[in-house]
Amino acid sequence: MRSLDDFAGQKLAALDAAQLRRAPVVTARDGIWAERDGRRLLSFSCNDYLNLSQHPAVVAAAAAAAVRYGAGAGSARLVTGNHPLYEELERRLAALKGTEAACVFGSGYLANLGIIPALAGPDDLILLDELSHACIHAGAKLSGAAVHSYRHGDAAHAEELLLVHRAGKARALIATDGVFSMDGDLAPLAALSQLGRRFDAWLLTDDAHGLGVIGGGRGSSFSNGAAVDVPLQMGTLSKAVGGYGGYLCASRAVIDLMRTRARSFIYSTGLPPPVIAAAIAALDVIEGEPAYAALPLRKAKLFARALNLPEAQSAIVPVIVGNTEAALKASEFLQNEGFLVVAIRPPTVPAGTARLRFAFTAQHPDAEVERLAAAVRRHMLRR
Ligand SMILES: Cc1ncc(COP(=O)(O)O)c(C=O)c1O
Repeated sequence: MRSLDDFAGQKLAALDAAQLRRAPVVTARDGIWAERDGRRLLSFSCNDYLNLSQHPAVVAAAAAAAVRYGAGAGSARLVTGNHPLYEELERRLAALKGTEAACVFGSGYLANLGIIPALAGPDDLILLDELSHACIHAGAKLSGAAVHSYRHGDAAHAEELLLVHRAGKARALIATDGVFSMDGDLAPLAALSQLGRRFDAWLLTDDAHGLGVIGGGRGSSFSNGAAVDVPLQMGTLSKAVGGYGGYLCASRAVIDLMRTRARSFIYSTGLPPPVIAAAIAALDVIEGEPAYAALPLRKAKLFARALNLPEAQSAIVPVIVGNTEAALKASEFLQNEGFLVVAIRPPTVPAGTARLRFAFTAQHPDAEVERLAAAVRRHMLRR
């Protein structure tokens, strides 16, 4: 239809003009390498922090499950899609996170779209860290609750907002990334947990980038040697676990509520059996090889130290460049040096904070991490 194509064309032209148009690039991955346009690049843009997506035991488990149970689940979990592998994965996730139960969703994004509206509605209050992942913002919006953002990492601001808005609301939820996806820093979970207790506000952490990497592999609520009481520990199986799917670890009552009220759980097909089998095998590595799971953070620290950046707190290290054009140029420079480091632009990050986001994995050789840091330094000095 003419008006439809005109609409799309005008939107795209505006995005082109601001250098904000995006398009997926065909990328074949082979361990830490990525192949694009016939070039082999060392990738620092992959969230496969433990390289488990290609681990032989993980791949073998997926292949065996495909042979035994087939390639797909066939329906939603409440119909016939609840194949036998789910039980073990949910038991393992709950044990790892120290909760009574767990519930696996189709993806991390779907998890937050289901969890948040199942817990909060128009009578309720939701506080969000302003830099929380898009799916937390989307879940909060979908809930119809009153939503307020507090300044990034600022528990004192969250307290101010609770003092103003908590009274008169039936229930309250505080939601935050545990490890921030574009900044790599950690949420002030101990302070937020205290606020949660004081104001009867339920704390939800999105541990997409924490599981398998920090807290001895158990994630952000276990980092710095202390377990913080987080009643809603959400996350994804798509980063360090190397596969796909989202989860919530919580009390038995909350998990049972999700299974009967979270719409993205009820109205979406179950994950394919090979995906669940792969996640179970990946958890075997995470739990069984803590020294290996510690490597991505060690590499990130090495890189940050080489560039005199603040100490890395996770496997993610950002180098803020500022405007979009400069970020694209920096990415291109690194590509010419043999590295794949994708530029991150608004709206993924706030305007004026376009950046290079470096993601470190267990198998990146130290020498390459140092060569990367030297290349970044060279580029920054040239600007
Ligand atoms: C913090 C955070 N939460 C949720 C997600 C979404 O998870 P998934 O890719 O499993 O949908 C991501 C990344 O994709 C993320 O970075």
